[in-house]
Amino acid sequence: MKAAVYERYGPPEVVEVRDVEKPVPKAGEVLIRIHATTVTSGDWRMRSMELPAGFGFMAPLVLGIGKPRQPILGSELAGEIEALGAGVTSFQVGDQVFAFPGASTGCHAEYRCVRAAGPVVKKPSNLSFEEAAALSFGGATGLDFFRRAALKAGERVLVNGASGGVGTAMVQLGKHFGAEVTGVCSGGNAELVRSLGADHVIDYTKDDFTKNGVLYDIIVDTAGTAPYSRSKGSLAKGGRLLLVLGDLWDLFSPLASLWRGRKVIAGPTSERVDDLRTLAELAEAGKYKPFIDRTFPLEQIVEAHRLVDSGRKRGNVVVTVGSRS
Ligand SMILES: NC(=O)c1ccc[n+]([C@@H]2O[C@H](COP(=O)([O-])OP(=O)(O)OC[C@H]3O[C@@H](n4cnc5c(N)ncnc54)[C@H](OP(=O)(O)O)[C@@H]3O)[C@@H](O)[C@H]2O)c1
Repeated sequence: MKAAVYERYGPPEVVEVRDVEKPVPKAGEVLIRIHATTVTSGDWRMRSMELPAGFGFMAPLVLGIGKPRQPILGSELAGEIEALGAGVTSFQVGDQVFAFPGASTGCHAEYRCVRAAGPVVKKPSNLSFEEAAALSFGGATGLDFFRRAALKAGERVLVNGASGGVGTAMVQLGKHFGAEVTGVCSGGNAELVRSLGADHVIDYTKDDFTKNGVLYDIIVDTAGTAPYSRSKGSLAKGGRLLLVLGDLWDLFSPLASLWRGRKVIAGPTSERVDDLRTLAELAEAGKYKPFIDRTFPLEQIVEAHRLVDSGRKRGNVVVTVGSRS
């Protein structure tokens, strides 16, 4: 099968499309023929080893010392079940699904095996494969952080970095949970963020949300420009700061924030199959739809990586795989 492979850390050009062995499903697994996948900020970090401050020394231990242990990136996919491993009864050949192997990646390929009892769910019928492929990375991050923050209807939520992969998901999910949502992005993306449901939009090139006197119950930082030191004055009593992007030291901010009655929530997203089911239900009900910036064929995946590396993609970058005949 064809796959996008990287055998050393570095710029987008370290990725090459090559023939590799097609996987065979083990007992309890399904083999998925992939129609679409995404290149996310997570792929950029794993490929380039550009990590938030303080995490650099840990990454090689997790990803591989000197070269990546898993040479195929891609944390999410959508496609069709082509074969079932022994004992699988929950899916049938031909089922249309999306899956989120997450940090174990391997989705930039024509096929991937996934545990049938693991992160794979039937595709919402109203989404294309391209849209379904982009459901999980931002969506699961949004659900996990909002759950950890115990978001309640009527709360004021500010999403810093509202036009990115995670931000576009969190604006929609925040609205779904009944929050009053303010999105912070560059002026060119204001219309997009408003179209996703944001009640207010702040152009960070013109206005500073920390200086407008407004207090928020939840501030989400996906851009790394709203750490506790900057955001604390904008958090209401009982407010929570969600550091989707934070450095190692931010993991200790919860201690610093305790005495002020505010909470800092940081660290990696926990990946749950139930969250994928929730995202599928929301999509089916028309309440959540991944925004796609651009779509590239697998053969042009280096271009897709370049767009993600720019740090300015809007929502999601999708890669289509194979032909659908
Ligand atoms: N904790 C976790 O488990 C977890 C999970 C997922 C992602 N992440 C991290 O979260 C970060 C965001 O991920 P992503 O996929 O959303 O990235 P992304 O799609 O590249 O989006 C980043 C967004 O940041 C915005 N931005 C840039 N400078 C800004 C500023 N000064 N103020 C406000 N917004 C600004 C950009 O919008 P404009 O173009 O409008 O400026 C862009 O849309 C990444 O660093 C990723 O590694 C962490």
